[in-house]
Amino acid sequence: MSDLKAEQLKNIHERWLKDCECELKKVATQGVPGHGNPEAEIVFIGEAPGKDEDKIGQPFVGAAGKFLNEMLLSINLKREDVYITNIVKYRPPGNRDPLPQEVEFCAKWLEEELQTIKPKLIVFLGRHALQHFFPNEKISAVHGKILKKKMKIGDTFFALYHPAAALHNGSMREVLMSDFKKLPKAIEKIS
Ligand code: URA
Repeated sequence: MSDLKAEQLKNIHERWLKDCECELKKVATQGVPGHGNPEAEIVFIGEAPGKDEDKIGQPFVGAAGKFLNEMLLSINLKREDVYITNIVKYRPPGNRDPLPQEVEFCAKWLEEELQTIKPKLIVFLGRHALQHFFPNEKISAVHGKILKKKMKIGDTFFALYHPAAALHNGSMREVLMSDFKKLPKAIEKIS
């Protein structure tokens, strides 16, 4: 079963790396597909690759990723237990916000990833991921909360501030770490 999903994900990434028509492809070093456990119960969705991710080709391997690893450990999870991906799979120049058209181009790719993994819980890391699926919600209002909506990709979601936003902001760091600790209960509720 695990091999099947891994095979399907590999196929999805190979296809999209070849066919995605996102303009960012021309300026990025490489595409950064999702990475992690194909059998994960939790999928984290970030915004877009940064400098380190663009160089290495894996999501959340820079400073924000290190902080994410720390928070995972705080709830007894390792990177190998979860799956991590981004709304946009190519680095926007200078780490600017992704444009709506760029999000649009990668959206089908993300949808395929999620429909293959079928996680119990989808966690948004930051407002870009949140607002792609919940355009009317504000991260300041829904962080640390479960969101419910029936969609092809799943029906239970959880919103967190983006780890990069909390890196140099002590109070946001506290909020994010405390929201993160609510994840095990959120998963328990679904199970
Ligand atoms: N920030 C993101 O949103 N995604 C990454 O992969 C890295 C940093």
